[in-house]
Amino acid sequence: MNQEIFTARAHPNIAFIKYWGNRNSAFRLPENGSISMNLESLHTTTSVAVDPNLREDRFTLNGEIRSGSSFERVHAFLDLIRNKASNPYFAEVKSSSNFPSSAGIASSASAFAALAVSAAAAYGLDLNEKELSILARMGSGSASRSIPTGYAEWYASDSHTGSFAETIAPPEHWKLWDCVALVEKSGKKVGSTAGHMLAGTSILQPARVASAPSRLDLCRSAIKNRDFQKLADIIELDSNLMHAVMMTSHPPIMYWQPESLLIMKHVTEYRKNGLEVAYTLDAGPNVHVICTNKSHLEAKRRLGEIPGVLEVLSSPPGGGAELIHSSQN
Ligand code: PMV
Repeated sequence: MNQEIFTARAHPNIAFIKYWGNRNSAFRLPENGSISMNLESLHTTTSVAVDPNLREDRFTLNGEIRSGSSFERVHAFLDLIRNKASNPYFAEVKSSSNFPSSAGIASSASAFAALAVSAAAAYGLDLNEKELSILARMGSGSASRSIPTGYAEWYASDSHTGSFAETIAPPEHWKLWDCVALVEKSGKKVGSTAGHMLAGTSILQPARVASAPSRLDLCRSAIKNRDFQKLADIIELDSNLMHAVMMTSHPPIMYWQPESLLIMKHVTEYRKNGLEVAYTLDAGPNVHVICTNKSHLEAKRRLGEIPGVLEVLSSPPGGGAELIHSSQN
């Protein structure tokens, strides 16, 4: 029997205002809103074929058949879609990224955004962008922001349908770059799903969450006005606040390595001397250095010379998740 294969592509994103902690873990409803930029040069491509002959889902990641927790997460996500579509059949899922997951760049955002788009199409669900963002959020919170194009804001809400991301500016609005200084290529010590659960154990989390709306306002207007100095100040503060929560949770999570701090110090110094650069770190030790178009080549060169930096990846703002192909098997 011929199966139709649906293929989608999505980009990871870097958060300028971070998501850390859920108000509802089962639905991945975040405690605070967040803002991010999609990364054009990095992407995940995922194809899904529904197959009535399969006795269970099959998941291949970068050419390797997966079992265990990554399979379970994909399987649970497909269950949501099967429920919605009233279609009980299992699916063959093949996914690959052009950046190794060992590069320490969160791949769950692009992975679940690409899976949401390809699996929704394969199961015949006709979902609009908002519905796809809500669906992707159920796989990984930050995946909600990889559905819309460019710079996106994900809203915090008590309701399932109120928590989705939408574009606040298209990629061409402002050609910023993310130069990612890699200091470690191994996987995360504490994954973000476990990390979100610990956020509430830090006495700093309520203060971080309560003050998030004002940082979201500052970040949104810095992007709208292309004001790099304002953007730099707010993203560095927001990253430091999230890491302060991580470091003071119980048990504490320390994602920074000595090299991470060294890069942060250099970035602060470069900016004092006129180079338009600002740092932000996700749940790992690699440092994302956000740069203007005129600064990014010089920034990339200087970052590459800092002791401990293994490689520097770079990307301008990217588009949203898209269905790129459908064909008969
Ligand atoms: O989407 P998750 O559960 O992988 O969480 C992402 C958490 C951070 O990357 C640290 C922050 C963010 O907003 O992307």
